[in-house]
Amino acid sequence: MDNNDNNEKVNFKKIGAEYIQSAIKKKEDFKLSKRSYIPSKAEVRCIDEKLSPLKSETDSETINPVTLPTKLLHRSSLPKREVKKDDVTVRKKLELTVSKNGMKQDSEGKQSNINMSENTKQKGRMEAQRKSDNHRKKEMKEDKIEEDVITETDSFLVVAAIDFGTSYSGYAFSSTNEHKKNPMLVTAKLWSSSQFKAVKTSTSILFDDKRRFHSFGFEAEDKYLRLLEDDDSNVEEWFYFSRFKMILYQNMNINTNTKLKDNQGKRMSALKVFSAAIGYMKADLLAMCYAKDSSIGQEHIRWVLTVPALWNDNAKTFMREAASRAGISNNSLVMALEPEAASLYCIEWMKGSDATELERGEKFLVLDAGGGTVDIAVHQIQENGRIRELNKASGGDWGGIKVDQEFKKLLKDIVGTDIFSELQKQYMSDYMDIFHSFERAKRRDFSIVGHGKVQLTFPNTINRLCLKTREKDVNELISENLKFKNNIRLVKDKLEIDLSLFKSLFAGAIYDIVNHLSILFRQSQVTDLTTIFMVGGYSECYLLQEAIRFKFNSLRVLIPPKSVLSVLKGAVLYGHSPRTFQSRISTFTYGIETTEPFRKGYPVDKKIFINGKSHCDKIFCIHVKDGEHVNLGKSVSKIYKTINPDQTHMEFIVFASIKRSPKFTDEDGCFQLGSLTVDVSKMSCNTYGEKQIKLELIYGGTELEAVATDTTTGKTSREHFALARAGHRC
Ligand SMILES: Nc1ncnc2c1ncn2[C@@H]1O[C@H](COP(=O)(O)OP(=O)(O)OP(=O)(O)O)[C@@H](O)[C@H]1O
Ligand SMILES: [Mg+2]
Repeated sequence: MDNNDNNEKVNFKKIGAEYIQSAIKKKEDFKLSKRSYIPSKAEVRCIDEKLSPLKSETDSETINPVTLPTKLLHRSSLPKREVKKDDVTVRKKLELTVSKNGMKQDSEGKQSNINMSENTKQKGRMEAQRKSDNHRKKEMKEDKIEEDVITETDSFLVVAAIDFGTSYSGYAFSSTNEHKKNPMLVTAKLWSSSQFKAVKTSTSILFDDKRRFHSFGFEAEDKYLRLLEDDDSNVEEWFYFSRFKMILYQNMNINTNTKLKDNQGKRMSALKVFSAAIGYMKADLLAMCYAKDSSIGQEHIRWVLTVPALWNDNAKTFMREAASRAGISNNSLVMALEPEAASLYCIEWMKGSDATELERGEKFLVLDAGGGTVDIAVHQIQENGRIRELNKASGGDWGGIKVDQEFKKLLKDIVGTDIFSELQKQYMSDYMDIFHSFERAKRRDFSIVGHGKVQLTFPNTINRLCLKTREKDVNELISENLKFKNNIRLVKDKLEIDLSLFKSLFAGAIYDIVNHLSILFRQSQVTDLTTIFMVGGYSECYLLQEAIRFKFNSLRVLIPPKSVLSVLKGAVLYGHSPRTFQSRISTFTYGIETTEPFRKGYPVDKKIFINGKSHCDKIFCIHVKDGEHVNLGKSVSKIYKTINPDQTHMEFIVFASIKRSPKFTDEDGCFQLGSLTVDVSKMSCNTYGEKQIKLELIYGGTELEAVATDTTTGKTSREHFALARAGHRC
């Protein structure tokens, strides 16, 4: 037992600020004297209760609230402070082996999680032997510190952002000089299709019959259509993917082996598809940058990739991997949450608009309505001008695609599922024509139209298929359908739909959005909110705007012009100053799996033997707790040490949990994010025969960064892990 614990008698009723102060003082003295300090359990508990809630509000250091085994405390040493307070710390890297998301590749390339499921002592012994012989092992100790850790380099001259959207994608950039002059000076590519120009291109990609990348965006769409129309082409051997981003939504199983199905059901590695798309935009962007300033090279660019706030950790890790395969190094890549990027854009846009600017302390909501998802974030401008996240990001898959799905349902209702499938499989070019026409119709200004009909392209192929299969034409089928007989009619090659029916296609998705906001507004953090910013392409939909304005009429609803570009341009702003976001709410508990000497009270099924001594395995050593406001770029560090002096590696397995205070990593709600393995073979042992590594988990808001520091040499290894977000629990 802890000596201090045994000796010190604390009257908890009397514990107050003085006592906490003295504990902090002891801690400070310890750091100054660089001698070991052992907080008593009472102090630990007291500090935990009193300080934890303040931790994110202030920059004061806190003491590790975890109750620690006495022996470990005695044997642990002070964490080495090599972290600089100022920006621009580029660290050297140690050799490291990383497996993300707990995905270890075995010799056959299959994935397996590293699990210890032993129930018997024998199994435990074998497992422990494996651990201590190979890599792994560490032990934890004291010291939870928040430090200002900036891991960025300031050597970039240009920030380049890629908005990889469900329906549309694009890129934009600005140089640091332009940004200093006017942050709104952002260059975005104007994309051309055969028929029009647009600020984003369609998220479509084409590979040839040899699986080689052919084209991206409108170019891919046009080429694919030409292939479809060419009877001599071998189009069925080509691979065409569109709107493939949604595979990453709420998909906890996405990994490097995941396959994507193309338009005709042929499979290709999802990673290959995503990295080719990013690679294309990267190359195009570089060329455009270079044309503007020939002194710019890839090494001068900080890349920003936008991701929906609702994405889970797996999806974000997957995107980082895809970017890395596309030649964007991890060090030069920043991930920006879409509604946060949009938030920066809206604030900047207001400065030059007629709208009254937000005041310090004012709370606002950003509704990013895209093609796939609607992402919602609630922010507040702090006194220092930086932004604080007030509520966990939320939303759902209620984007513009939902309206397309309603239209699909309508078509199936009229012609039948079989004819619809045949159209999709055999007459893809006609199928695409209908949906292009629907996309144009969706964008009509319904505030002007009033009454009337909406006309859609309706290729004659469908009529022919209906006559062949049903022996009835489309109008006959419509007249038999009670729902549609009075409000839809085929006139030549145009399907005429009554406006009221057409509008009803939007109803479900709009209802979901409005309903979600109503529930959100009941939460205390959101009550005194003043402004809603609507961004994303779908926010240009008049019906959605009207519904939000009507339902939340006491709030100011602002829609920046070209709202479809808010995320993209905001991502560029984010890349120039990611620290504008001061704090975010941790939506999970994060920590490291550790092993400690076995003590009374530990579950017997977790007992393992290492070097003949009993240990408790799978302990969840918490770094960041669910619900904590965590200042961005702050780190929470702990010292871990080897169990075996001959140990050559230490593996830090990063876990997340939906529980606030998980005790063990195999409890329900815990899941592995990934691991960082550090080579400690060349490290020297301390007088206790241990090698010590300081492990910091730096909360970046969009990602978690693990930095392992050799406490003797100061050398560091690092790895990024995508953060789990609460959104996918909505
Ligand atoms: N004026 C409009 N009226 C209705 N819908 C619109 C309008 N303009 C764009 N949209 C819809 O907005 C969606 C595209 O928006 P955006 O480009 O922001 O999405 P994305 O970035 O591709 O998707 P996500 O952000 O979900 O990944 C499409 O579903 C499109 O039909
Ligand atoms: Mg988007």
